[in-house]
Amino acid sequence: MELTIFILRLAIYILAFPMYLLNFLGLWSWMCKKWFPYFLVRLSVMYNEQMASKKRELFSNLQEFAGPSGKLSLLEVGCGTGTNFKFYPPGCRVTCIDPNPNFEKFLIKSIAENRHLQFERFVVAAGENMHQVADGSVDVVVCTLVLCSVENQEQILREVCRVLRPGFVMLARLVSNFWPQVIHPPWPPKVLGLQT
Ligand SMILES: C[S@@+](CC[C@H](N)C(=O)[O-])C[C@H]1O[C@@H](n2cnc3c(N)ncnc32)[C@H](O)[C@@H]1O
Repeated sequence: MELTIFILRLAIYILAFPMYLLNFLGLWSWMCKKWFPYFLVRLSVMYNEQMASKKRELFSNLQEFAGPSGKLSLLEVGCGTGTNFKFYPPGCRVTCIDPNPNFEKFLIKSIAENRHLQFERFVVAAGENMHQVADGSVDVVVCTLVLCSVENQEQILREVCRVLRPGFVMLARLVSNFWPQVIHPPWPPKVLGLQT
């Protein structure tokens, strides 16, 4: 197993060399930000087909977290193309955060396809610093397929605690499996429990 991981890592380092070069030239980040949304929008269709029942189950009780007004205020961190929108309850007020501004046009399309939601705003920012979102101002934070690849997971979770209405608990399961071990240094699976 360790030899397989070593060989795959080596192969990835060799294949990734052009990317390191583009990064060195200062072009890689710009290219990724520009093209990633086009890739993700296609991938999300397939991923949602596979995960639809799981997502439906996961998001089925969101409305229970609504504040006294009865309107659920939801913040999605690392929203991408808005692929989770269709699973949110009717009338839900959605704020989106993503550091990549190129997702905006994909979000506009998702908003148009999900008229059951009340879209608030799209904030271009990283989850590590969401100062545009006020303390204790949201009922629910959703963050899917994001925490495994961010700079600082702990800082994002601190920010999540700050923006959530007081008294809530956030549970995040960070999964370790075969591919992250090949692509990144391995990290142990852990469940982070945070009381706001
Ligand atoms: C794999 S995509 C997942 C998108 C969406 N959450 C989904 O489930 O389809 C990862 C997203 O996280 C965003 N992202 C990357 N770094 C981030 C950070 N530090 N804070 C918040 N979002 C981040 C990316 O721009 C991208 O939209």
